[in-house]
Amino acid sequence: MIVMATGNGDVGIRQATTALKEGKSAVDAVEIGIREVEINRKDRSVGLHGYPNILGVAELDALIMDGRTRNVGAVGAVKGYDHPISIARNVMEKLIHVFLVAEGAERFAAEMGFEKSTLKTPEMREIYEKHVRETLGVEDPETLQTTNELWKLSHMAVDAQKAGGTTNFIAQDGNGDICTGVSTSGWGWKYPGRLGDSPVISAGGYADNRYGAAACTGTGELCIRDGTARNVVTYMKMGMSLEEATTEGLRDMNDLTSQRIGGVTIISMDHHGAHFSGNTSEGGGSHIFMTPDMDGPETVTGIGVPYEGE
Ligand code: GLY
Repeated sequence: MIVMATGNGDVGIRQATTALKEGKSAVDAVEIGIREVEINRKDRSVGLHGYPNILGVAELDALIMDGRTRNVGAVGAVKGYDHPISIARNVMEKLIHVFLVAEGAERFAAEMGFEKSTLKTPEMREIYEKHVRETLGVEDPETLQTTNELWKLSHMAVDAQKAGGTTNFIAQDGNGDICTGVSTSGWGWKYPGRLGDSPVISAGGYADNRYGAAACTGTGELCIRDGTARNVVTYMKMGMSLEEATTEGLRDMNDLTSQRIGGVTIISMDHHGAHFSGNTSEGGGSHIFMTPDMDGPETVTGIGVPYEGE
Protein backbone atom coordinates (compact mmCIF):
# COMPACT_ATOMS: atom_id res chain seq x y z
CA MET A 1 0.00 0.00 0.00
CA ILE A 2 1.37 3.38 -0.95
CA VAL A 3 0.36 6.91 -1.89
CA MET A 4 2.52 9.26 -3.95
CA ALA A 5 1.77 12.86 -4.86
CA THR A 6 3.18 16.11 -6.08
CA GLY A 7 4.62 18.27 -3.27
CA ASN A 8 1.40 20.25 -2.82
CA GLY A 9 -0.29 16.94 -1.90
CA ASP A 10 1.41 17.21 1.49
CA VAL A 11 -1.85 18.54 2.99
CA GLY A 12 -3.73 15.36 2.01
CA ILE A 13 -1.29 12.46 1.77
CA ARG A 14 -1.61 11.47 5.44
CA GLN A 15 -5.41 11.22 5.17
CA ALA A 16 -5.07 9.26 1.91
CA THR A 17 -2.61 6.81 3.50
CA THR A 18 -4.83 6.37 6.57
CA ALA A 19 -7.70 5.52 4.22
CA LEU A 20 -5.64 2.70 2.70
CA LYS A 21 -4.67 1.46 6.17
CA GLU A 22 -8.37 1.33 7.07
CA GLY A 23 -8.99 -0.91 4.06
CA LYS A 24 -10.39 1.71 1.72
CA SER A 25 -9.68 1.50 -2.01
CA ALA A 26 -7.05 3.36 -4.02
CA VAL A 27 -9.91 5.37 -5.58
CA ASP A 28 -11.08 6.43 -2.09
CA ALA A 29 -7.53 7.35 -1.07
CA VAL A 30 -6.92 9.49 -4.14
CA GLU A 31 -10.22 11.35 -3.75
CA ILE A 32 -9.64 11.90 -0.01
CA GLY A 33 -6.11 13.24 -0.59
CA ILE A 34 -7.04 15.56 -3.44
CA ARG A 35 -10.06 17.03 -1.62
CA GLU A 36 -7.63 18.39 1.01
CA VAL A 37 -5.56 20.15 -1.66
CA GLU A 38 -8.71 21.55 -3.29
CA ILE A 39 -9.61 23.42 -0.10
CA ASN A 40 -6.07 24.50 0.81
CA ARG A 41 -6.31 28.29 0.78
CA LYS A 42 -2.55 28.60 0.19
CA ASP A 43 -2.58 26.64 -3.07
CA ARG A 44 -2.92 28.93 -6.07
CA SER A 45 -2.97 26.15 -8.67
CA VAL A 46 -5.81 23.94 -7.41
CA GLY A 47 -9.39 24.63 -6.34
CA LEU A 48 -11.36 27.85 -6.19
CA HIS A 49 -8.41 29.64 -4.54
CA GLY A 50 -6.42 29.08 -7.73
CA TYR A 51 -5.55 31.70 -10.31
CA PRO A 52 -8.64 32.53 -12.40
CA ASN A 53 -9.03 32.83 -16.15
CA ILE A 54 -8.52 36.11 -17.99
CA LEU A 55 -12.07 37.18 -17.08
CA GLY A 56 -11.37 36.65 -13.38
CA VAL A 57 -13.34 33.38 -13.03
CA ALA A 58 -11.88 30.18 -11.54
CA GLU A 59 -12.55 27.25 -13.89
CA LEU A 60 -11.58 23.90 -12.41
CA ASP A 61 -10.55 20.63 -14.07
CA ALA A 62 -10.14 17.13 -12.60
CA LEU A 63 -9.72 13.51 -13.55
CA ILE A 64 -9.81 10.19 -11.68
CA MET A 65 -8.95 6.81 -13.21
CA ASP A 66 -9.36 3.36 -11.67
CA GLY A 67 -6.54 1.14 -12.91
CA ARG A 68 -8.46 -2.03 -12.02
CA THR A 69 -11.19 -1.43 -14.59
CA ARG A 70 -9.72 1.50 -16.54
CA ASN A 71 -12.96 3.28 -15.74
CA VAL A 72 -12.43 7.01 -15.66
CA GLY A 73 -14.30 10.22 -14.91
CA ALA A 74 -13.29 13.75 -15.79
CA VAL A 75 -14.70 17.27 -15.60
CA GLY A 76 -13.46 20.46 -17.22
CA ALA A 77 -14.07 24.19 -16.82
CA VAL A 78 -16.33 23.70 -13.79
CA LYS A 79 -17.31 26.87 -11.96
CA GLY A 80 -18.51 27.29 -8.39
CA TYR A 81 -17.81 23.89 -6.83
CA ASP A 82 -15.11 23.17 -4.23
CA HIS A 83 -14.38 19.57 -5.20
CA PRO A 84 -14.07 18.81 -8.92
CA ILE A 85 -12.32 15.52 -8.06
CA SER A 86 -15.53 14.28 -6.39
CA ILE A 87 -17.65 15.38 -9.34
CA ALA A 88 -15.20 13.48 -11.60
CA ARG A 89 -15.58 10.39 -9.41
CA ASN A 90 -19.34 10.60 -9.76
CA VAL A 91 -18.98 10.87 -13.54
CA MET A 92 -16.93 7.65 -13.39
CA GLU A 93 -19.39 5.81 -11.16
CA LYS A 94 -22.82 7.13 -12.19
CA LEU A 95 -22.65 7.87 -15.91
CA ILE A 96 -21.91 5.94 -19.05
CA HIS A 97 -19.94 8.98 -20.23
CA VAL A 98 -16.41 9.72 -19.08
CA PHE A 99 -15.99 13.47 -19.55
CA LEU A 100 -18.30 16.44 -18.82
CA VAL A 101 -17.50 20.12 -19.16
CA ALA A 102 -18.81 23.51 -18.04
CA GLU A 103 -22.60 23.86 -17.61
CA GLY A 104 -23.21 20.15 -18.16
CA ALA A 105 -20.71 19.23 -15.44
CA GLU A 106 -22.23 21.85 -13.10
CA ARG A 107 -25.75 20.56 -13.72
CA PHE A 108 -24.55 17.02 -13.03
CA ALA A 109 -22.84 18.16 -9.81
CA ALA A 110 -26.12 19.69 -8.63
CA GLU A 111 -28.00 16.49 -9.52
CA MET A 112 -25.47 14.50 -7.47
CA GLY A 113 -26.23 16.71 -4.47
CA PHE A 114 -23.05 18.80 -4.42
CA GLU A 115 -23.55 22.22 -2.81
CA LYS A 116 -22.42 25.36 -4.62
CA SER A 117 -19.35 26.81 -2.94
CA THR A 118 -19.69 29.69 -0.52
CA LEU A 119 -15.97 30.43 -0.78
CA LYS A 120 -15.02 34.10 -1.04
CA THR A 121 -11.65 35.02 -2.52
CA PRO A 122 -11.38 38.84 -2.32
CA GLU A 123 -7.57 38.62 -2.23
CA MET A 124 -7.57 36.77 -5.56
CA ARG A 125 -9.84 39.44 -7.07
CA GLU A 126 -7.22 42.03 -6.08
CA ILE A 127 -4.38 39.97 -7.58
CA TYR A 128 -6.42 39.55 -10.78
CA GLU A 129 -7.30 43.23 -11.16
CA LYS A 130 -3.68 44.27 -10.52
CA HIS A 131 -2.53 41.79 -13.17
CA VAL A 132 -5.05 43.07 -15.72
CA ARG A 133 -4.03 46.69 -15.11
CA GLU A 134 -0.27 46.17 -14.94
CA THR A 135 0.33 43.37 -17.44
CA LEU A 136 -2.44 43.98 -19.96
CA GLY A 137 -2.59 47.74 -19.53
CA VAL A 138 -6.39 47.55 -19.21
CA GLU A 139 -7.59 50.04 -16.61
CA ASP A 140 -11.11 48.64 -16.22
CA PRO A 141 -11.17 44.79 -16.03
CA GLU A 142 -14.92 44.87 -16.82
CA THR A 143 -14.19 45.89 -20.42
CA LEU A 144 -12.68 42.42 -20.94
CA GLN A 145 -16.16 40.90 -20.65
CA THR A 146 -17.20 42.28 -24.04
CA THR A 147 -14.02 42.80 -26.04
CA ASN A 148 -13.54 40.92 -29.34
CA GLU A 149 -9.80 40.90 -28.80
CA LEU A 150 -9.56 38.71 -25.74
CA TRP A 151 -7.57 36.24 -27.82
CA LYS A 152 -4.82 38.82 -28.34
CA LEU A 153 -4.80 39.82 -24.70
CA SER A 154 -4.63 36.19 -23.63
CA HIS A 155 -1.20 35.96 -25.29
CA MET A 156 -0.03 38.85 -23.14
CA ALA A 157 -1.59 37.36 -20.05
CA VAL A 158 0.65 34.30 -20.34
CA ASP A 159 2.79 33.90 -17.28
CA ALA A 160 5.14 30.90 -17.31
CA GLN A 161 5.21 30.93 -13.51
CA LYS A 162 1.47 30.35 -13.45
CA ALA A 163 1.29 27.80 -16.24
CA GLY A 164 2.22 25.06 -13.75
CA GLY A 165 0.84 23.95 -10.42
CA THR A 166 -1.89 21.26 -10.27
CA THR A 167 -1.99 18.32 -7.89
CA ASN A 168 -1.39 14.66 -8.78
CA PHE A 169 -2.06 11.65 -6.54
CA ILE A 170 -1.38 7.99 -7.35
CA ALA A 171 -2.32 5.28 -4.82
CA GLN A 172 -2.04 1.51 -4.68
CA ASP A 173 -4.29 -0.26 -2.19
CA GLY A 174 -4.07 -3.59 -0.35
CA ASN A 175 -5.56 -5.42 -3.33
CA GLY A 176 -2.84 -4.06 -5.61
CA ASP A 177 -5.32 -1.76 -7.36
CA ILE A 178 -3.92 1.52 -8.64
CA CYS A 179 -5.73 4.84 -9.06
CA THR A 180 -4.56 8.16 -10.50
CA GLY A 181 -6.17 11.53 -9.73
CA VAL A 182 -5.48 15.04 -10.96
CA SER A 183 -7.05 18.38 -10.00
CA THR A 184 -6.24 21.92 -11.07
CA SER A 185 -7.44 25.47 -11.56
CA GLY A 186 -5.28 25.39 -14.67
CA TRP A 187 -3.07 27.95 -16.25
CA GLY A 188 -3.40 31.33 -14.54
CA TRP A 189 -5.11 33.96 -16.77
CA LYS A 190 -6.06 31.30 -19.36
CA TYR A 191 -8.60 32.00 -22.13
CA PRO A 192 -12.12 31.10 -20.89
CA GLY A 193 -12.94 27.47 -21.62
CA ARG A 194 -9.30 26.47 -22.00
CA LEU A 195 -8.68 22.91 -20.84
CA GLY A 196 -5.20 21.78 -19.90
CA ASP A 197 -4.04 18.20 -19.63
CA SER A 198 -5.41 17.60 -16.13
CA PRO A 199 -8.92 16.43 -17.12
CA VAL A 200 -7.80 14.95 -20.45
CA ILE A 201 -7.60 11.20 -20.07
CA SER A 202 -4.19 9.88 -21.24
CA ALA A 203 -2.65 13.37 -21.19
CA GLY A 204 -2.86 14.47 -17.54
CA GLY A 205 -3.34 11.04 -15.95
CA TYR A 206 -3.64 7.35 -16.69
CA ALA A 207 -3.78 4.15 -14.64
CA ASP A 208 -3.66 0.49 -15.64
CA ASN A 209 -3.21 -2.13 -12.90
CA ARG A 210 -1.33 -4.37 -15.29
CA TYR A 211 1.59 -1.96 -15.73
CA GLY A 212 1.32 1.16 -13.59
CA ALA A 213 0.20 4.76 -13.64
CA ALA A 214 1.39 8.27 -14.39
CA ALA A 215 0.22 11.85 -13.96
CA CYS A 216 1.48 15.25 -15.01
CA THR A 217 1.78 18.82 -13.79
CA GLY A 218 3.06 21.84 -15.66
CA THR A 219 2.18 23.15 -19.09
CA GLY A 220 -0.79 21.04 -20.03
CA GLU A 221 -0.67 21.91 -23.72
CA LEU A 222 2.54 19.89 -24.02
CA CYS A 223 1.03 16.83 -22.31
CA ILE A 224 -2.08 16.96 -24.51
CA ARG A 225 0.06 17.12 -27.65
CA ASP A 226 2.01 14.08 -26.48
CA GLY A 227 -0.58 12.01 -24.61
CA THR A 228 2.06 11.92 -21.91
CA ALA A 229 0.58 9.91 -19.03
CA ARG A 230 -0.61 7.16 -21.35
CA ASN A 231 2.73 7.13 -23.14
CA VAL A 232 4.57 6.45 -19.88
CA VAL A 233 2.25 3.54 -19.06
CA THR A 234 2.60 2.19 -22.61
CA TYR A 235 6.37 2.36 -22.34
CA MET A 236 6.10 0.20 -19.20
CA LYS A 237 3.89 -2.21 -21.14
CA MET A 238 6.63 -2.40 -23.76
CA GLY A 239 9.04 -3.61 -21.08
CA MET A 240 10.79 -0.45 -19.96
CA SER A 241 11.53 0.06 -16.28
CA LEU A 242 9.66 2.80 -14.42
CA GLU A 243 12.67 5.10 -14.69
CA GLU A 244 13.17 4.39 -18.41
CA ALA A 245 9.47 4.90 -19.17
CA THR A 246 9.28 8.20 -17.30
CA THR A 247 12.51 9.44 -18.88
CA GLU A 248 11.20 8.56 -22.32
CA GLY A 249 8.00 10.49 -21.57
CA LEU A 250 10.10 13.54 -20.70
CA ARG A 251 12.23 13.10 -23.84
CA ASP A 252 9.06 13.02 -25.97
CA MET A 253 8.07 16.30 -24.37
CA ASN A 254 11.41 17.87 -25.16
CA ASP A 255 10.91 17.01 -28.80
CA LEU A 256 8.09 19.58 -28.87
CA THR A 257 9.98 22.73 -29.73
CA SER A 258 7.16 24.99 -30.94
CA GLN A 259 4.60 26.92 -28.86
CA ARG A 260 6.45 26.04 -25.71
CA ILE A 261 5.90 27.83 -22.42
CA GLY A 262 7.24 26.27 -19.24
CA GLY A 263 7.88 22.59 -18.66
CA VAL A 264 6.28 19.45 -17.30
CA THR A 265 6.72 17.15 -14.29
CA ILE A 266 5.69 13.49 -14.50
CA ILE A 267 5.06 11.34 -11.44
CA SER A 268 4.78 7.59 -12.01
CA MET A 269 4.26 4.28 -10.24
CA ASP A 270 4.68 0.72 -11.49
CA HIS A 271 2.41 -2.19 -10.58
CA HIS A 272 4.81 -3.23 -7.80
CA GLY A 273 4.27 0.15 -6.08
CA ALA A 274 7.71 1.54 -6.99
CA HIS A 275 7.50 5.31 -7.54
CA PHE A 276 9.45 7.84 -9.58
CA SER A 277 9.30 11.39 -10.93
CA GLY A 278 11.11 13.74 -13.25
CA ASN A 279 10.73 16.98 -15.09
CA THR A 280 11.98 18.90 -18.07
CA SER A 281 14.42 21.06 -16.12
CA GLU A 282 17.93 20.61 -14.77
CA GLY A 283 16.61 20.37 -11.19
CA GLY A 284 14.32 17.41 -11.80
CA GLY A 285 11.68 18.48 -9.29
CA SER A 286 10.45 16.02 -6.68
CA HIS A 287 7.49 14.05 -5.38
CA ILE A 288 6.32 12.82 -1.99
CA PHE A 289 5.23 9.34 -0.94
CA MET A 290 3.87 7.64 2.16
CA THR A 291 3.12 4.07 3.23
CA PRO A 292 0.95 3.06 6.22
CA ASP A 293 4.02 2.26 8.36
CA MET A 294 5.44 5.79 7.97
CA ASP A 295 4.71 8.70 10.36
CA GLY A 296 4.68 11.22 7.53
CA PRO A 297 5.55 11.62 3.86
CA GLU A 298 9.08 11.59 2.50
CA THR A 299 10.30 13.71 -0.39
CA VAL A 300 12.16 12.12 -3.29
CA THR A 301 14.15 14.16 -5.82
CA GLY A 302 13.19 13.47 -9.42
CA ILE A 303 15.29 13.06 -12.53
CA GLY A 304 15.98 16.13 -14.69
CA VAL A 305 15.71 15.72 -18.45
CA PRO A 306 16.27 19.34 -19.42
CA TYR A 307 14.79 20.88 -22.52
CA GLU A 308 17.81 22.03 -24.55
CA GLY A 309 16.00 24.98 -26.08
CA GLU A 310 15.53 26.81 -22.75
N1 GLY B 1 -1.23 21.04 -15.97
C1 GLY B 1 -2.26 21.94 -15.68
C2 GLY B 1 -2.72 22.75 -16.79
O1 GLY B 1 -2.02 22.91 -17.78
O2 GLY B 1 -3.80 23.28 -16.71
